[in-house]
Amino acid sequence: MKRIGILTGGGDAPGLNAVIRAAVKTAIYVYGCEVIGIRDGYDGFVDEKGIVRLGIQDVRGILPRGGTILGAANRGNPYARKVMRDGKEVTIDVSDEIVKGIKRLEMDALLVLGGEGTLHIAHGLFSKGAPVIGVPKTIDNDIGGTETTFGFDTAVNTATEAIDKLHTTAEAHHRVMVLEVMGRDAGFIALHAGVAGGADVILIPEIPFTLEAVVAKVRQRVERGYLFSIVVVSEGAKVQGGAQVFSRSGDEIYVPRLGGVGEKVGRHIEEQGYETRVTVLGHLQRGGTPTPFDRWLATRYGAAAVRLAAQGKFDRMVALRAGKIIDISLEEVTKTVKRVDVNDDAIITARGMGISFGDA
Ligand code: F6P
Repeated sequence: MKRIGILTGGGDAPGLNAVIRAAVKTAIYVYGCEVIGIRDGYDGFVDEKGIVRLGIQDVRGILPRGGTILGAANRGNPYARKVMRDGKEVTIDVSDEIVKGIKRLEMDALLVLGGEGTLHIAHGLFSKGAPVIGVPKTIDNDIGGTETTFGFDTAVNTATEAIDKLHTTAEAHHRVMVLEVMGRDAGFIALHAGVAGGADVILIPEIPFTLEAVVAKVRQRVERGYLFSIVVVSEGAKVQGGAQVFSRSGDEIYVPRLGGVGEKVGRHIEEQGYETRVTVLGHLQRGGTPTPFDRWLATRYGAAAVRLAAQGKFDRMVALRAGKIIDISLEEVTKTVKRVDVNDDAIITARGMGISFGDA
């Protein structure tokens, strides 16, 4: 193994730099191998100045830094790249150029740090001859085959801290505080932070809710003398028989943008006579320094991905199972949908704590 490439695709997540650092150090120290960084996801292969050499100096001090030193692009789909041709915007397929780029740069492997979309693309590029290895990244924790993605723990920490802060002001003002958190179609952030922060209501995409049940919980608390409530809503949660709430529709480049369900829930609670405020946590969940757990996991993932490269095990993704780093096929990853298991002990425990999921 003489040279490997590394790219960070999709939205960023805390821990990307920790993976890059671990991969560069392992490649250089353990295998005496060169590392090339590709800027802004797959775009770097087709952009000028998209390729950079990564040495030990380049990764010094980046372990606790959020974001990614390589840049990310969540519109960077090589199968549908928007370019200007004769003054008009057109969509072209540049996937072959990427495979050629990997060969031209004489990369023995390409480490792809990404979520569902980025890993799906990586699997497609493998079928065209690209020696790809995936590393599961996303704050949503919704990648199949692995127990945990890096970035998730930091997002849960941020959301829990927000709930703790909302608690004190909710109690002071006898108000209902609604917190909308990220997670797309998976409710892991809402569930974990909601339980850790002692929420009274947690609404997740996997359990459609009714507004009546949410208000019933608030009312029950008031009747018992608790004049405030905390409601955590996952951005992808939906009312029974209804649809998810979007703030922006999608197109061939952008996926539709979720947002607004917290406002909808908050407005309804207020209409029933309970003073309510809504907070949308948004991209605070994606930024900032990774937690020690995410740095630990990211470091193990980065090093393990380089070991896979050295073994020539391509079209695989590193994953965490029962505390061990293993590798699984990208085919399996792309076919597995990971969501909160509504029969899991976590949900049973939460219900036992008196938390309402808005379904009864
Ligand atoms: O998938 C990660 C995520 O942060 C989701 O939780 C959220 O819906 C989405 O990305 C936001 O994407 P963007 O940064 O493009 O607004």
